[in-house]
Amino acid sequence: MKNNVSRCSNVLFFVFLFCFFTVNIVLGADKTPVYKNPENSLEERVEDLLGRMTLEEKIGQMNQYSAPFTEECEVLTEKGRVGSFLNITGREKNRIQKIAVENTRLGIPLIFGLDVIHGYATVFPIPLGMASSWDPDLVKKAVSIAAREAASDGVDWTFAPMVDIARDARWGRIAEGAGEDPYLGSVIAKAQVEGFQGGDLSDPNTILACAKHFVGYGGAVGGRDYNTVDVSERTLREVYLPPFRAAVVDAHAGTIMSAFNEINGIPATANPFTIQKILREEWSFNGFVLSDWNSIGELIRHGIAKDPAEAAYKAFKSGVDMDMSGNYRDDSITGTPDNIYQRNLDKLVKEKLVSEKEIDEAVKRILKIKFKLGLFERPYLDTTRARINIKSIENIKVAREIARESIILLKNDNKLLPLSKATKSIAIIGPLANSRRDPLGSWSAHGDSSDVVTILEGIRNKVSSKTKVYYSKGCNILGTSTENIDEAVTVAKKCDVAIVVVGEARNMSGEAASRAYLDLPGVQENLIKAIYETGVPVVEVLMNGRPLSISWSAENIPAIVETWFLGIQTGNAIADVLFGDYNPSGKLPVTFPRTIGQVPIYYNYKNTGRPYNPDNRFSSKYIDVPNTPLFPFGHGLSYTDFEYSNLKIDKKKIRNTEEVNISLNIKNTGDYEGIEIVQLYMNDVVSSVTTPVKELKGFKSVSLKPGEEKTVSLIVKASQLGIYDYNMQYVVEPGKFDIMIGKSSENIQLIDSIEVVDN
Ligand code: NOJ
Repeated sequence: MKNNVSRCSNVLFFVFLFCFFTVNIVLGADKTPVYKNPENSLEERVEDLLGRMTLEEKIGQMNQYSAPFTEECEVLTEKGRVGSFLNITGREKNRIQKIAVENTRLGIPLIFGLDVIHGYATVFPIPLGMASSWDPDLVKKAVSIAAREAASDGVDWTFAPMVDIARDARWGRIAEGAGEDPYLGSVIAKAQVEGFQGGDLSDPNTILACAKHFVGYGGAVGGRDYNTVDVSERTLREVYLPPFRAAVVDAHAGTIMSAFNEINGIPATANPFTIQKILREEWSFNGFVLSDWNSIGELIRHGIAKDPAEAAYKAFKSGVDMDMSGNYRDDSITGTPDNIYQRNLDKLVKEKLVSEKEIDEAVKRILKIKFKLGLFERPYLDTTRARINIKSIENIKVAREIARESIILLKNDNKLLPLSKATKSIAIIGPLANSRRDPLGSWSAHGDSSDVVTILEGIRNKVSSKTKVYYSKGCNILGTSTENIDEAVTVAKKCDVAIVVVGEARNMSGEAASRAYLDLPGVQENLIKAIYETGVPVVEVLMNGRPLSISWSAENIPAIVETWFLGIQTGNAIADVLFGDYNPSGKLPVTFPRTIGQVPIYYNYKNTGRPYNPDNRFSSKYIDVPNTPLFPFGHGLSYTDFEYSNLKIDKKKIRNTEEVNISLNIKNTGDYEGIEIVQLYMNDVVSSVTTPVKELKGFKSVSLKPGEEKTVSLIVKASQLGIYDYNMQYVVEPGKFDIMIGKSSENIQLIDSIEVVDN
């Protein structure tokens, strides 16, 4: 009897076990959810996760909050109502990520973003500087270092590159981009996106890029930041869109940031034409779109939304997937309501103004990126990596390399430069000569001014121990006091040469730093003039974030060097150039105006019906200043000379599906080894719409020893020669195209032409 009972209970026990496991297997209770298993496809994971999410959690993914991580942020994060943070790095990231991964229902990791614009801890030159190198490979290398350093400190995502074309030097953000040209801008945009993202987003050494600010932001009326942009569709397509296209179509940028400005009456953050039609339909962009800081709330100030709900509705319907915002407060720094998506999207769904299916599409785009980044597998930062990757010897070496390639020799009369390292006495003068903070530029991420080598230090390290180096600040960057100029004059008088370092403070360019004057600020021109009066040869070193109108200097000072803000290796790089250890090779990515009245000024202008003729009053010109720039786009001298010859074109006629190979010889006829950046410009002579007098279509850098000659070849595809016709269709029209090759947009050395023929 006892045996029977125990046998029976054994059977029951096994039956129970069998049922338990069967039920578990069938219901999948012991299995890793599909979305957590990296073996599953991206689509399967996204669908599975989305299927588990509540509407509130979905909307949560569409919000980005900024540091500081307040108690409210914590509560929201725990509820799965935040998708991303900005301005949080390091161990703080891990603490917050843990809340999202371990304390929320679904454990969706947050994505952490930061403005890594020109380096992380190893600060490189500002983007305008890097673009001056015309060296996309080196730019990519520097940017990949920035990505590795940032990733090692917990950054998943950068709000860069800024690919806004800027033709107006008043606009402070000209410093953050690659200048005025759509072709150069596209090449640099591609290099930057590739540098940040690498070939694989899940690589722990890469970060997600965000091309910004979509679009037309640089066209702000009067160069005043955030101002109205009134730009034709033609100019939008010809000038402002190409670098974005390169970032998206050629380099696969994962995200795009919508701009603050309006475009022809419709704010960029609620613009279905640019976001839906161009970005998503024409370019098949499948990443996600992020607003700029509170730019959804600002739709109310733009006057196109009566309240936050309408602002959310308009931004969402036009394709903005994530709301970048301040903290959960009623007003942000701009006085507009923030956290608009968080507070309004659910209402819009309830009122059936927005469907949950539409929300799903936006959330899918965000989740896809999170999966691609490998955040589900690797949500935390490994704090040991920072030590290995940040500010390594190799990184600092690249910082010096790109800093010297970013320097442009604007003028060098009588070969004043390079200076001899054995010069007996050198005066180093000016408010920026020993500045440790300004060289970091406007966005220095985690840059530390104590890492900066100042110009004074760089020169002291460079010259021989016998050289006497004297320093005098002379004046401040801003202000009216001239009381220290006399002391600087005294210092200059006892020296063989004076190096005068003038320009702008780092916060005088970048966001919200538009200027109505483009002269040297404060009394710096007085300082330059006083030093010039001593008769001591003067080298003017400019440190600034925009082209400056320095007509007096250009006329009188024998040697002028543009250095922008070069980052932590400023002093070493400048000393390398001034003393001939590096022969300058940088070329201007922007035009320098003679005076602010010429702005906007750019090399790729159109001819008009009355082209500029200084002798004809009734031509398109000013009566008080020539049309020509102070220094043109593409300008940059070398310590050596280059001779251009032997232009050859493999086909004088091409079909619109073909390409042409243009070759030429270039010879170093001077005494120094040097790099020349050969520039190829073209002009569509007669077309159905007007086109610029010349447009950059290619460039190549060549390194030559003294006396050496090389053949350079440049390929131009006929598809590069298209125009937007009357119907705004991109077409390559048959006809003659002039070819101009030279040292700058104005210094053309070789000319010829080709013809595009019907297929
Ligand atoms: C506003 C700026 O316009 C944008 O470029 C930047 O990425 C965000 N603030 C975040 O800092």
